[in-house]
Amino acid sequence: MSRNTRKREGFSSGLAVFFATLSSAVGLGNIWKFPYLTGDNGGGAFLIIYIAFALLLGIPVMMCEFYIGRSTKRNAVGAIDRIKPGSLWKIIGYAGLLSAYLIMFFYSSVAGWVYSYIFKSIRGTLSHLSTEDIQSIFDKTVSSSFEPIFWQVFALAVVGSILVLGVRNGIERLTKILMPILFILIIICDIRALTLPGSLEGIKFLFYPDFSSLTKNSILIALGLAFFKLSLGMGTMITYSSYFTDDNNMLATSLKVAFSDLCISLLAGIAIFPTVFTFGVKVNSGPGLLFKTIPLVFSKLPFGNILMTMFFILTAIAATTAMMSIVEVTVAILTEELKISRKSSVMLNCLIIAVFGSLATLSSSSSSLLADIKIFGKTFFDFFDYVSSNVLLPLGGLLIAVFTGYIIKKEKFIFEISNKNSLEQKYAFSLLFILIKYVTPFLLLIILLNSLSLIN
Ligand code: TRP
Repeated sequence: MSRNTRKREGFSSGLAVFFATLSSAVGLGNIWKFPYLTGDNGGGAFLIIYIAFALLLGIPVMMCEFYIGRSTKRNAVGAIDRIKPGSLWKIIGYAGLLSAYLIMFFYSSVAGWVYSYIFKSIRGTLSHLSTEDIQSIFDKTVSSSFEPIFWQVFALAVVGSILVLGVRNGIERLTKILMPILFILIIICDIRALTLPGSLEGIKFLFYPDFSSLTKNSILIALGLAFFKLSLGMGTMITYSSYFTDDNNMLATSLKVAFSDLCISLLAGIAIFPTVFTFGVKVNSGPGLLFKTIPLVFSKLPFGNILMTMFFILTAIAATTAMMSIVEVTVAILTEELKISRKSSVMLNCLIIAVFGSLATLSSSSSSLLADIKIFGKTFFDFFDYVSSNVLLPLGGLLIAVFTGYIIKKEKFIFEISNKNSLEQKYAFSLLFILIKYVTPFLLLIILLNSLSLIN
């Protein structure tokens, strides 16, 4: 199957563009990370900072990535090279490749937990148990050596099998079906959570801003989350926008995606926090929060098992489509830059991720096999997560914003995102460019410098 670059695949319609982009944004970030980070960082106040970052820094960086991707129609490395041939700026693409791997190492591990929980809920292992039992099942699941690796490889195999089908037959076809299903499933779970006796307290925790609970570290974490959530700073949006249709209103797409993504995070929070307060789970339970609460929501309910299975299927859908967009970055780079077939590229990348990802899996809990090996004081799992979300993504975002603001001419930028001047919102586009040039990079730089000093 030799496909030359002229016949490059792409999405077929505006709707496909929206669902594919949203399916990248929505993932474990909404259902696993957002609730536990909000729990760890005190609730409502953290939520406000996170939303501010998503709007002020997230949207501009997303637009830069969209510009770079659609105007060149190449992978993250090739795209930069086409705009500024032979320059060092290509480092943005290579840094993206590195972040993609680091994220996948731990992300595929958590996705594996989710798949194993589908299996457990179907078998009924999680029903009618006490809060303590549910916690100990989670601890046992993640600290054993074989089970989580098996499911991690399983999750990767699912991602790989969809990606070999290609952009239109794989990514587009699947995301158009799965995104609406996900939305319906999460609403059903919310209805159940809201009828729990502790629901008010949970909702208050999520929405009532208590600024005294914010630390310097939580601000950095909110930024990392904003980037992680919107799939920014790594080349995912460069890669996906290289498949966009030319008549897509990309500013509208970015706003719609950011808004829908936030709604799904909030819906996930609404499913989880009422449970925390009803069943006395610690609100700052860390990465295990999702797995320690959801089984309790459904455990004593008629048809609870079916609902619980649905919830974990929903989470698996979100995780899988998001992983597709991370691995696609590496697949596109390898396929187009090294000129190897899509199939070999998918297999090679999944293999790399499975091998190094097992390090994350075997260090994810304090009783795991490799829990005592530390890099900069962190386990493999935490190191991959921390360095990618809190250092590489904001750094990538900074470079992308500087590249767009200072290498690309304003007229050229506006010409592309206004679809050759056919869109009317001239004023908004100019404002956007000013943000990209003068605001976004400086805010990012300040936050990054702070974060580096925090590490020391
Ligand atoms: N946004 C996804 C989530 O919330 C994860 C993700 C997909 C991602 N592509 C990315 C994160 C690129 C950072 C960079 O789960």
